Amino acid sequence: MAKQNSSTGISALYQEAIRDPEKFWLEAASQVHWFKPPSYALSKPGKVESEGSEQTEKRHTADWFADGQLNACYSALDYHVEQGHGEQTAIIYESPVTGVSQKITYANLLFHVSQFAGALAAKGLTKGDRVLIYMPMIPQAVVAMLACARLGLIHSVVFGGFAANELATRIDDAEPKAVIAASCGVEVKRIIDYKALLNKALKLSQHTPEFQVIYQRPQQTAKLDQPRDIDWNDFIDKAESADCVPVKSTDPLYILYTSGTTGKPKGVIRDTGGYCVALQWSMRAIYNVVPGDVYWAASDIGWVVGHSYIVYGPLLNRNTTILYEGKPVGTPDASAFWRIIAKHRVKVLFTAPTAIRAIKKEDPAGDLVRQGDFDLTSLSALFLAGERSDPDTLHWAQTQLNVPVIDHWWQTETGWSICANCLGVEALPVVDGSPTMPVPGYELFVVDKGGQKLSKGSVGALVIKTPLPPGTFTGLWNDEKRFEESYFSSYPGYYETGDAGYIDENGYVFVMSRTDDIINVAGHRLSTGAIEQVIAGHEDIAECAVIGKSCALKGEIPLALIVLNCQTQNPLEQIQRACVQMVREKLGAVYSFKTSVPVRALPKTRSGKVLRATMKQIAQKQAYSIPATIDDPKILDEIEIALDRLN
Ligand code: COA
Ligand code: AMP
Repeated sequence: MAKQNSSTGISALYQEAIRDPEKFWLEAASQVHWFKPPSYALSKPGKVESEGSEQTEKRHTADWFADGQLNACYSALDYHVEQGHGEQTAIIYESPVTGVSQKITYANLLFHVSQFAGALAAKGLTKGDRVLIYMPMIPQAVVAMLACARLGLIHSVVFGGFAANELATRIDDAEPKAVIAASCGVEVKRIIDYKALLNKALKLSQHTPEFQVIYQRPQQTAKLDQPRDIDWNDFIDKAESADCVPVKSTDPLYILYTSGTTGKPKGVIRDTGGYCVALQWSMRAIYNVVPGDVYWAASDIGWVVGHSYIVYGPLLNRNTTILYEGKPVGTPDASAFWRIIAKHRVKVLFTAPTAIRAIKKEDPAGDLVRQGDFDLTSLSALFLAGERSDPDTLHWAQTQLNVPVIDHWWQTETGWSICANCLGVEALPVVDGSPTMPVPGYELFVVDKGGQKLSKGSVGALVIKTPLPPGTFTGLWNDEKRFEESYFSSYPGYYETGDAGYIDENGYVFVMSRTDDIINVAGHRLSTGAIEQVIAGHEDIAECAVIGKSCALKGEIPLALIVLNCQTQNPLEQIQRACVQMVREKLGAVYSFKTSVPVRALPKTRSGKVLRATMKQIAQKQAYSIPATIDDPKILDEIEIALDRLN
C-alpha cells in the first residue's frame, strides 16, 4: 500500500493508472493473497496465457490478472487467521428488529464457512455450479456466500424485498443447483415469509434446484414441506470442513441481478481476481481504513454495496464489518445509526442519502444526536451512494457529524466507485452535488448522442473508455448479446454508464440523471419497464407508462399513467388498488408503487414512441418543450393538469 500512503497526490496517481495500468494494477495486486501470483495485469491480444491457450481479443472487457490463481474466501478469512488475527472480530451483527447483538471472530467465521462449504461439497457441488442465496441480513447469509467462494461455486444473492416472480426469474436464469434460504425476514412492521415466497418461486420456475437449505429463524420457523428441503442444522451436522479451491482470477465469483430497462433483470457477472484487487485497493485508497478498523456499510447483502462493502471489501482488508438488520429510523428511532457508531467505534459509515433524509425528517435539529450523548469521535467520514446526494442532506449530515460527507458514484456493473473523493490518497474539497472525480482506473468522458466529446460544463452521456478497470463486470449471465448491445454498442470503445451529467472546469463530475428508464427508489435501482409490464396485465388497462416522480424521502417513486379500456365497468379506485397489489405480489414491496393517474391517452410521437422523458419533466415540474413529432399535443396539457391534482 506504499503508493496510497505516500505523498503522491490523487491527480498524479490517477495519471499513473492511465499511463501504465499494467504497473499500477500489478502493484495493487501484490496486496492480495494469490496461490499463483499473476505475471501480468491485463491480457492483451496475442498474449500467451500460462496454461498455453492463446488469448484472442475478447469483447470489451479485459481479463484482469488472467494467469493468477486465488480464492476470495481464503483471502478474506483463512489468510487473516493464519497471520494470527483469528481472535479479531470479523462481523458485528446488530439486529434491532430481533434484539440480537453478536460478535463473530475471524476464526469463528472461518469455522462456520468451512463447515458449510464441506456440506455443499458433500452434496456434490463443484466449481462453477451456481447457488442462489435468498436470505435477510443475518450472519448465515455471509457464511453461505463465503462458503460458495471457498469452493469456487458462483453465488447469486437475491434481495429479500423481491417477490416470488422475481425470484423465479433469477432461478431460471442462473439455474442454481442449490438454494440457500432463511425461514423468514423481519421487517419493522411484519415478518416476511421467505419460505412461502421460495415455495411459490419454485412452482413458477422451469428450473428445479437439486435441494434447498433452510435456516430456521426463531421469529418464524418454516414447514420443510418440499421434497428437497433440508434444515440448515441437519445440513451441516457431521459435515467435514472443506478447504479452499484455488480458482482462476477470471473465474466468476458471483452473479448479481440488477434492473435493466426491460422487465428481465441483468445478471451481472463478477470475476474473482480483479474484484479482490479493486476492493482491497479501494478500502485503503477511497475509504481510508486500515486492518482492524470498524467499517459499516448500512445497505443490504442483496445489493452490490452489500457484496462489495459489507462482505468482501472489509473482510479482504481485515476490517470488522457491521451487519445491520434494521432501518435508519423506527428501529427504534432516528438515533439508531449514531448509537451503533458510538457502541462499536465505527470509523467509516457508508449509506444511501435516502437513509440520511429519513433520519433528518424525524430529527431535523439533530436533537437525538446530542441528547443521546453519543461519542462519535471514532467516525472519520460518511460516504453516500446509490443516488445523487442533495446538498441539503449533505450539509445536514456534515453539521451533525462534523466529518467529511463524501458522495461517490457507482453501479452494480462497476462493483466499486467510478468517482469518489479518495480520502486514503488525498482528500479533495467537497463540492455540493458532485461525487468528486474519476477514481484511478476510470477514464470518464461526457459525450453527445453522436459520441462527440463535450466541453467542460456541457451535459451529456457519461461514458468510460474501455477496458474497464479491475473489479468491473465481465459479462451478463446467459446474455452476451445484451451485454454488448446495452453497454458497448452506442459509443464504440466506451462503456455506456446509462447516467447523464457533466464535468466542470475543475474536473469535478456531476451525475444528474439516468438516460434510460431506470429509477432510483430509496437508493434501490428499479425498472419502470418491469412495473409497466405488470400493470399492463390488468384487464381494464389498455396501456400505461411508468415514470419516476420526485419524493422528498425516497428521492424518486414510481408513478403510473394509465389508459383505461373504454368498456371497463369497474370503478377506477378498484383498478388502482389492484395495480398496487399486483406490483407488490409480482415484483415486491420494495418497488414502493402506490400511485397511478388515469389519462385519456399516452403522449406519443407519430411513429408511436411513448414520450416518457417529457412526462417525467412534467411530473418533476421542469420546463419542457413540446416535441415536434408529437401526435396529439393537447394530451400533454391534460397530463399536466392530472399530475397537478396529485400534488
Ligand atoms: N425484505 C422484505 N421486504 C422489504 C425489504 C426486505 N429486505 N426491504 C424493504 N422491504 C419492504 C418494506 O417492508 C416496505 O414494505 P411496505 O410497503 O409493506 O411497508 C417496502 O419494501 C418499501 O421499503 P423501503 O423502501 O425500505 O421503505 P420504508 O418506508 O420501509 O423505509 C427508508 C424508508 C428510507 C428508511 C428505507 O428505504 C432505507 O433505509 N433506505 C436505505 C436504502 C439503502 O440502504 N439502499 C442501498 C443502496 S446503498
Ligand atoms: P446500482 O446499480 O443499484 O448501484 O445503481 C446504480 C445507479 O444509481 C447509477 O447508475 C446512478 O444512476 C445511481 N447512483 C449511484 N450512486 C450515485 C451517486 N453518487 N450520484 C448519482 N447517482 C448515483
